[in-house]
Order: sequence, then C-alpha cells, then structure tokens
Amino acid sequence: MLIIAHRGANNLAPENTLSSFNKALQLGADGIEMDVQLSRDGEPVIIHDEYLDRTTNGMGAVRDFNHTELQKLDAGSWFSTSYLNESIPTLKEVFRTFKSNELIINVELKNDNIQYPGLEEKVISLIDYFNLFERVIVSSFNHNSLFKVSRLDSRVKLGLLYDQSRPNTNKLENKVDFYTIHPHNSLDYKKPHKKQARVLPWPVNNREEAIKLAKSHEIFGIITDFPELFC
Ligand code: G3P
Ligand code: MG
Repeated sequence: MLIIAHRGANNLAPENTLSSFNKALQLGADGIEMDVQLSRDGEPVIIHDEYLDRTTNGMGAVRDFNHTELQKLDAGSWFSTSYLNESIPTLKEVFRTFKSNELIINVELKNDNIQYPGLEEKVISLIDYFNLFERVIVSSFNHNSLFKVSRLDSRVKLGLLYDQSRPNTNKLENKVDFYTIHPHNSLDYKKPHKKQARVLPWPVNNREEAIKLAKSHEIFGIITDFPELFC
C-alpha cells in the first residue's frame, strides 16, 4: 500500500514546502501530494489556500502577486519559528529537487474555486521538461480541468479527485482513463467499473482506518497527514 504524504509531512514541517516534502522523503513515504496555483506572472506555485494569510506572512490572493514576490514571503514561521526561512516553492523547484529519486508526485490543480487560465498547459510543460510523466499524477476537484489535461496530453497520469458530498457533475470516469481515483476517506464510494483505476483515499490518518480500507476495498494507497505513522 502506497503512502502519499498530504501537502508533504505536514505535521512535522510547514505544509507544501520543500521541508515538508523532504521530511516525507526521509521518512520513506512513497509519494507527496501538493497544491498548485498560478502567480500573477503565470508561474505554477505550491500553496493550498487561494489567499496567503493562513500559511505565510503575506496577505491577499496568490494570483495578485508575481512569483518573485511570493517567494520572498515567509511560509514557515506560522508553523514554527525554526522554519523562518521557508518559502513558497514553485512547481519547477519541486520537480528539480525531486527529479532524481523515486517519489510519486501528486500535483493537485487548485482551480476549483478560482480559475487559472493556462494552468493545465504550464503544468504539463513542466512535467514534460523534467520528463516526469511516469511519476507525476495530476488531480483536481475541477473535472473540466482534468478533461482538458486529458485532451492536451495523453501521457499525463490523471487522478479523479472528489468528495462524495459534492455532486460529481460530468461523469468523467466514463470519458477519461484515470490512473487513480481519489475519493474522500469514507467507505461510501464505488470504484468505477470497467476501468482499472487505483484507489487513493484521502485523508487517512490512523492505522485502524487504513486497515479497514485495505480489507474492505482494494486500495492502491492512502493520502495521509501523518506519513510518520505508516512509514
Ligand atoms: O488531494 C487530496 C486533498 O489534498 C484534497 O483536499 O483541500 O487538502 O487540497 P485539499
Ligand atoms: Mg490537495
């Protein structure tokens, strides 16, 4: 069962930073999950919220700042003063840092609340540049965006991300070959038949849940906030 660290090892280091990804790697996780948005100048940057306020010392919307401005922000002190120098990574930095190990890299396009024109093309172009088609899984709650990725480049591995409480409107599982499906951690999901999609529920944060899921569903792995419990 694969262990994917949600926003990195986010319990041990500030989420979505190179430190949290490195911690996951050191723990022996099989992969890392991260959220990507676009800066004002169109650079894919790694941050979960559409606004800077919770996880940095900045204020306002991510999309209103150029990536060089975003990178000057402190994205670590909110978590602990020992991470004072942590910055918001770009996707390019993440790929460059982890290109030569075996980590699975789950890139979640964070475009369900705010649209980022060109996000799909930019992410694909970076996967291509670093030749990471084998190890990257692109997921999103925005299923139109996933459909777009599938049409732009069939080499991209796609993960159908959903939360059973939100209606899954466009029945994409019948139109696109997903490499993985990422349901919210609830046993109330059905594996799309006909397709061989691998199931990666999120977030699975204790061993009992993981064992239950492994017994009752054929899961490929888990996306967890606590990789340290499983590695
Ligand atoms: O990709 C799984 C999970 O990250 C989706 O929710 O809000 O943590 O990005 P969120
Ligand atoms: Mg995410």
